[in-house]
Amino acid sequence: MYKAYISGIGHYLPEKIITNDDLSKIMDTSNEWIYERTGIKQRHYVSPGQGPSDLAIPATENALKMANLSVKDIDLIIFATSTPDYYAPGSGCLLQDKMGFQTIGALDIRVQCSGFVYGLSIANQYIKTGEAKNVLVVGAEVQSTTLDLSTKGRDTAVIFADGAGAAILTSTDEGKGILSTHIHSEGKFAKELWVESPSTIDSPRLSQEILDEGKHFLYMNGREVFRNAVKRFPEIIMEALDAHNMSSGDIDLLIPHQANIRIIEFIAKKINIPMDKIISNINRVGNTTAASIPIAFSEALIEGKIKKGQNIILAAFGSGFTWASAAIKW
Ligand code: UT7
Repeated sequence: MYKAYISGIGHYLPEKIITNDDLSKIMDTSNEWIYERTGIKQRHYVSPGQGPSDLAIPATENALKMANLSVKDIDLIIFATSTPDYYAPGSGCLLQDKMGFQTIGALDIRVQCSGFVYGLSIANQYIKTGEAKNVLVVGAEVQSTTLDLSTKGRDTAVIFADGAGAAILTSTDEGKGILSTHIHSEGKFAKELWVESPSTIDSPRLSQEILDEGKHFLYMNGREVFRNAVKRFPEIIMEALDAHNMSSGDIDLLIPHQANIRIIEFIAKKINIPMDKIISNINRVGNTTAASIPIAFSEALIEGKIKKGQNIILAAFGSGFTWASAAIKW
């Protein structure tokens, strides 16, 4: 059996910065409310015409550069997004064309905030079995165009944002890399955080009535999501640790999905890990769904927070509900 390690990681945030004060000009909210409830001060939004496959390009270029690889070296694209450029085909196919990858497999996965960790899990299997040597895992999102940016949608709209992260998983026989991944789902909560339309159940898929009812906007029952998140995050982190007879004291760095700073603080308390061992960029970046973990990971690396030999845990929770973790030896 081979082992997979992260040979490269990169990220990209679109240029346009939207502050809490900017949002309070278009809906009934305030910088104080958003910052106190979520820890967010600003987020990035795309410009018209930019899709997740576009955001993925600079993120992937940075990851390839760090790995010292070219597009020709990549054997498979796994593209995690809950906001694909188009209903069909997938954003992975678009990225294959835009970056000139060979005619390799391109797989979109839609597991929302857990997408990047699910993607690592799939890539890990391809590498462990020897089916692939280098796999690209992208998490890229354009949430801004799916938000109801009026007072009606304010509880959901203020947290979500745009961005992309990308990692290259490469085969190695050294003692580093992905130790294990764990993935879960619980679809009975599907409607607590979802985009109802356009849907194949509706005929026609899109109508004035659907638009008037706002069914095409991302909807979140924030309290229910929060309640489940604070339960599942500690569980999935402990599952990752238990698999390697580790305890929370063995974690050098925890990179959680950036949903809300209050959730991250709750995790820290629950599993007894100091906040300085937890990466958080939510104040600047907001909640970028599948892109959130690779962006935080890439930034932490650039800032010199990641060092050889560290035990790193990634943990995610989101719509589905889905949740997932990865244990990594750097
Ligand atoms: O990434 C996927 C996973 N997502 C998450 O993990 C998010 C989990 N949920 C959350 O982070 C929080 O539930 C939110 C940040 C979304 C909301 O915070 P909350 O403390 O749960 O607020 P709430 O929805 O219970 O609303 C409290 C009050 C309400 O007013 P009343 O009914 O008490 O008078 C809301 O109408 O705050 C009001 N409110 C706002 N006020 C100003 C809701 N949103 C806003 C807003 N600005 N943006």
